[in-house]
Amino acid sequence: MYKIAVIPGDGTGPEVVAEGLKVLRAVSEKFNFKYQLVHYDLSGERYLKTGEILPDSILKELKKADAIYLGAIGHPDVKPGILEKGILLRTRFELDQYINLRPVKLYPGVETPLKDKRPEDIDFIVVRENTEGAYLGAGGFHKKGTPDEIAIQEAIHTRKGVERCIRYAFEYCRKRNKRKKVTLCGKTNVLTYAFDLWERTFKEVAKEFQDIETDYAHVDAICMWMVKNPEWFDVIVTDNMFGDIITDLAAMIQGGLGIAAGGNINPRGVSMFEPMGGSAPKYTGKGVVSPLAAIGACQMMLETLGEEKAAKKIEAAVMKVVQNDVKSLTAGKMGFSTSEVGDLVVKYILGK
Ligand code: IPM
Ligand code: MN
Repeated sequence: MYKIAVIPGDGTGPEVVAEGLKVLRAVSEKFNFKYQLVHYDLSGERYLKTGEILPDSILKELKKADAIYLGAIGHPDVKPGILEKGILLRTRFELDQYINLRPVKLYPGVETPLKDKRPEDIDFIVVRENTEGAYLGAGGFHKKGTPDEIAIQEAIHTRKGVERCIRYAFEYCRKRNKRKKVTLCGKTNVLTYAFDLWERTFKEVAKEFQDIETDYAHVDAICMWMVKNPEWFDVIVTDNMFGDIITDLAAMIQGGLGIAAGGNINPRGVSMFEPMGGSAPKYTGKGVVSPLAAIGACQMMLETLGEEKAAKKIEAAVMKVVQNDVKSLTAGKMGFSTSEVGDLVVKYILGK
C-alpha cells in the first residue's frame, strides 16, 4: 500500500493532477497495486487566506509518505519567492531531495522547434543538483535601498553534495544503458572554484565507471549544442542553477511544458514528482492545458516506487495519444480538453 501525498496547488495544478490521478487509478487496477491518497491544500490560495505557507505539521506528514505528487505552486497576487522558497525549495531541502531528474525525450508525433531533428535525436536526461548552489539562499543586503546598497548572493557547493549528485548521474547512466555517456555541464572558465570542485569530483567518480564515456561542456555552449546537436547527449549532470536554466530549454525541444515532467529525488527517502510547467493563471478553469506532463510525473513516480510495468504502460499510452489523437500540446490547441486527454491515456492503458 503506497501512501501518496497529493499537493494539487494553484491555477491549473488541480486540473492536471486530477488527470494524473485518473491514470494512477487505471494502472493500479491493471497491475494490482494499492495506494492511499492524502491531499494537502498547500498553495498561494491558502497562503492568501490563512497566512500559512508550509506548516511544520504538514512537513512532518510529507516525510512519512512514500511519494509526493505535486501540481503547481504560484499565485499572481503573491510576491515571487515566497511560495517558491516556502513550499517547493523547503520541501526539496528538508526531505533532502538532492536530485532533480528531468528526462528530455521527443515522442513520435510531437512537434519540436528543432528543424530536422527526430525522436531518435532527442533522448537524454538532465541530472540537476537540487539542494545546494545559489538556491541555498546564502547572502543578504547591506544598506538596502540606499545608493550604497550591496546585495550578495552566494552559491554553496559541498564536496559531499557534488559527489552524491555526480555518482547518481553515473549510476543512472549505467542503468539507462543507452549512449553510456555522462556530460558535465559547468563553467570552469569563470567559476573557477565551484566548477573546479565539480570537475575534480567528476573525474574521480568517473574512474569507478570505466564503461561510461565522459564529456564536458560549459553551460553557455551546452545551450547551443542542445539545439544544434541534441543527439550528442545521454546524461547531463550539472549544478542547481544551471540545471534550472538548461532544463527549460530542454523542455522546449521535447515539445514544451505540456509534456515535460520532473522528479525531486531522494534515492533513500521521499521523492516529489511534478509537471515542469507552472500554475498558468491565464488558462485556469478552462480545461485547455495538457495533462501529459502531470501524467508523465505520475509515470516517474511509479518508476521510483518500483512499479515499472505500470510506468512503462503509462508511457506507451501517452505515446499513442500524441501519435494518434492530440494535434498540439499548446494550451487550447490540443483538439481535446484536459480531461478528454486524460481519458484517452486511460483508454490506451486499458487496451480499448
Ligand atoms: C523549477 C522551478 C523552480 C526552480 C522555482 C519555481 C523555484 O523553476 O522547478 O525548475 O527554480 O527550481
Ligand atoms: Mn525552473
